[in-house]
Amino acid sequence: MSQTLACNTCGERAEFKPETVCPSCFNPLEVSYDYDTLREQLRTVEIEGRPTTMWRYRELLPALEGGIPDSPVGWTPLIRARRLGKALGMPNLYVKNDAVNFPSLSFKDRVVSVALAKAVDFGFRKVGCASTGNLANAVGAQATMLDLESVILIPEDLEPPKILASACYKTQVVKVKGTYDDVNRLCTELTYRENLGIVNVNLRPFYSEGSKTVGFEIAEQLGWRLPDQVVVPMAGGSLISKIGKAFRELAQVGLVADKPAGIFGAQATGCAPIATLVKNGSEELVPVKPDTQVKSLSIGAPADGHRAAGIIRDSGGWAEDVSDEETVAGITLLAETEGIFTEGAGGVTVAVTKKLLEQRRLQRDALTVLCITGNGLKTPDLVTHRTEDLPVIEPKYSSYTTLVTNREEVAYAGKD
Ligand SMILES: Cc1ncc(COP(=O)(O)O)c(C=O)c1O
Ligand SMILES: [Zn+2]
Repeated sequence: MSQTLACNTCGERAEFKPETVCPSCFNPLEVSYDYDTLREQLRTVEIEGRPTTMWRYRELLPALEGGIPDSPVGWTPLIRARRLGKALGMPNLYVKNDAVNFPSLSFKDRVVSVALAKAVDFGFRKVGCASTGNLANAVGAQATMLDLESVILIPEDLEPPKILASACYKTQVVKVKGTYDDVNRLCTELTYRENLGIVNVNLRPFYSEGSKTVGFEIAEQLGWRLPDQVVVPMAGGSLISKIGKAFRELAQVGLVADKPAGIFGAQATGCAPIATLVKNGSEELVPVKPDTQVKSLSIGAPADGHRAAGIIRDSGGWAEDVSDEETVAGITLLAETEGIFTEGAGGVTVAVTKKLLEQRRLQRDALTVLCITGNGLKTPDLVTHRTEDLPVIEPKYSSYTTLVTNREEVAYAGKD
């Protein structure tokens, strides 16, 4: 058996099944691979010849009985961010732009691509999720594409644009009174009582592997090398853990040279249980009640919080959190320098980068990648102040010159 589920605490192994925790010690189950064989098989040149989707790394993703999905998820741009780099004083800065991921404009499209492929393998006809918004969009879109029935459970106070897109797909949206953590508890109960493949509950070991493709793509787009530093937003702590796993795996199978890559985590101050754990160095993650406008990162009891903190510490990285005001400044800085409009999570990432530079935790000259994971059109409330008091003019040249060139109408140089 080249792939199994394995407990990352006690090492117990199991065949693939829709289960999330180890039956012996209740710690998370994870997909494990036969790296020695893959080291013999995998070559960069072969991967480079494959279609530009996240499934070009198929050997390092959960094996599928039903074949590789053909929808073009992943392979988002890695941008050399010269202007943002200048503003921050980082000459070697890149942005991985998952704000334009297909089909629903966040990195969650990656995890859902894996989870739904496995849901089909396991014979589920109906799938669902507990979501802070982006996952809801990704499940709604891709369940529709695969003709699967789906149900999406969300906290009732999510941003309207995230609810709006979900409501337009062929899916059932259920608003729940409470926080994401309440929604997640309900979804866990549903997996015991209903025949449902919940992507981030009973399909979680497979779902979470999809996040590794962010790390694989960064390395390939850098010319098959690891960055020195990467800054990643954290909610449940899965994405950052899997980027760490991806970098390790690439070195293990010989696709990149092994070298240290510092992994840095970013949260909003109003919901920062993982950053707090990293900063105070304790072993106990203390759950919080979220109090921030950055809803996509509002998970007070993160499922992979311990793991994320461990990976950050082991990599020589760090974690920080920023206020909602700093987040808004981060969103506008990225938009004004690179023309990339990101949501709250991206604002947090940019603002934490600035803070970590000031603290000298991040090295200015090092090759650094910021993970921008979601699209700004989904969180307009954070920046609507930018549209207040915008001027309106008469459709006349004189009105234009008064406002824009700030001078009296100039004589028309052409024929009169
Ligand atoms: C845009 C965005 N970025 C980052 C994250 C954090 O991902 P994770 O929950 O894997 O830590 C989320 C989670 O919902 C998200 O929506
Ligand atoms: Zn175990």
